[in-house]
Amino acid sequence: MTSPRIYLDNAATSFPKPEVVYAAVDQYQRELGCAVGRGSSAAATQVQSLVNQCRANLAELLGVPKPEHVLFAFNGTDALNLAIHGLLRPGDRVITTCWEHNSVLRPLKHLEALGVQTEFLAPNEQGTFSLDELQSLLEKPTRLVIFTHASNVTGCLQPIEQATRLAKDRGALVLIDAAQTAGHVPINFKDLGADALACPGHKGLLGPLGTGLLIIREGLEQELVPTRQGGTGTDSMSENQPTDLPARYESGNHNAVGLVGLRASSEWLLRRGVASIEKQVAELAELLESGLSSLPRVEVLGAGPKVGVVSISVPNIEPQVMASLLDQHFHIETRAGLHCAPRSHAALGTLELGGTVRFSIGPFTTANEIETAVEAVAQICAAM
Ligand SMILES: Cc1ncc(COP(=O)(O)O)c(C=O)c1O
Repeated sequence: MTSPRIYLDNAATSFPKPEVVYAAVDQYQRELGCAVGRGSSAAATQVQSLVNQCRANLAELLGVPKPEHVLFAFNGTDALNLAIHGLLRPGDRVITTCWEHNSVLRPLKHLEALGVQTEFLAPNEQGTFSLDELQSLLEKPTRLVIFTHASNVTGCLQPIEQATRLAKDRGALVLIDAAQTAGHVPINFKDLGADALACPGHKGLLGPLGTGLLIIREGLEQELVPTRQGGTGTDSMSENQPTDLPARYESGNHNAVGLVGLRASSEWLLRRGVASIEKQVAELAELLESGLSSLPRVEVLGAGPKVGVVSISVPNIEPQVMASLLDQHFHIETRAGLHCAPRSHAALGTLELGGTVRFSIGPFTTANEIETAVEAVAQICAAM
């Protein structure tokens, strides 16, 4: 008999989703099927109302006072691109960290050629960065500071509250990449005091792929230039892009099926409570980390407070080999390689080895699955 599938790649995208997500997507596909904001039939009105509820749920979940400040995007990368391209102009200076994903690094690299200057905070032993260094870099005029909330390689939580305060005190704009934290740790956008926060809808928020969001604070629309123009289903006589929110940034048809699923998952999260997921995932991450780090030769990367992401490195076993063996022999799905975050591996010293093997936990992961994964790594290490 084959062993059951164990999915430990929730940092890439969450799986499984809550049952209500499958039911909502199925109902939309079979019974509704209309575009959002483009018609007035009973079905179209129902779809519009589901999408409005999705926006309201996300605002409630993430501490956003007005739902229209939740802008829909198609993934985390799309939301980050809107913020980065929409806020930066030639001559601007940006500060960021070496823990960022390529969805931050690559837009910044692209903008470098157009005269945007990026400075990187040095990594420290805890897998974060120094607030003192940030303070000194902020002495020069800075347009934007970008922090990931938690590294997608080590899971290490970054000191974003203190860092945001420092940056705001110096008049810089702050963008948070919450790809690994939204739905995993409680976030209150208003209390955080950042200008914008981007995240996918398909990871911790448990919605379908093809969903993402950018949250903006009141008034940021004066600074944030839309990066797309087009049909919004409103004010159709005008050739100018509407200026009201969220239409200013939401041109073209929405991913209605994805948003209907995200409505269901956000409602599920509101009922379940993100703090309770955080606690459950932290217990499993502790079990995983202590189990893996007790194995000879296995190094767990990154110290300090983390989300449910655990990366390991084993001398003489390439990450791709370990991940393939876990998949083929134990049906355990992990992710091997650089995880689209090359500077993180340069900081951790895992670039030469081809990265790490990453295990990432979701709200449906069980202790039994974690124990099986630790035992599987132990068997592979013993055999090689
Ligand atoms: C830290 C971080 N930022 C951004 C992204 C990009 O999100 P998406 O895959 O939804 O584009 C990811 C995805 O893995 C991530 O881990």
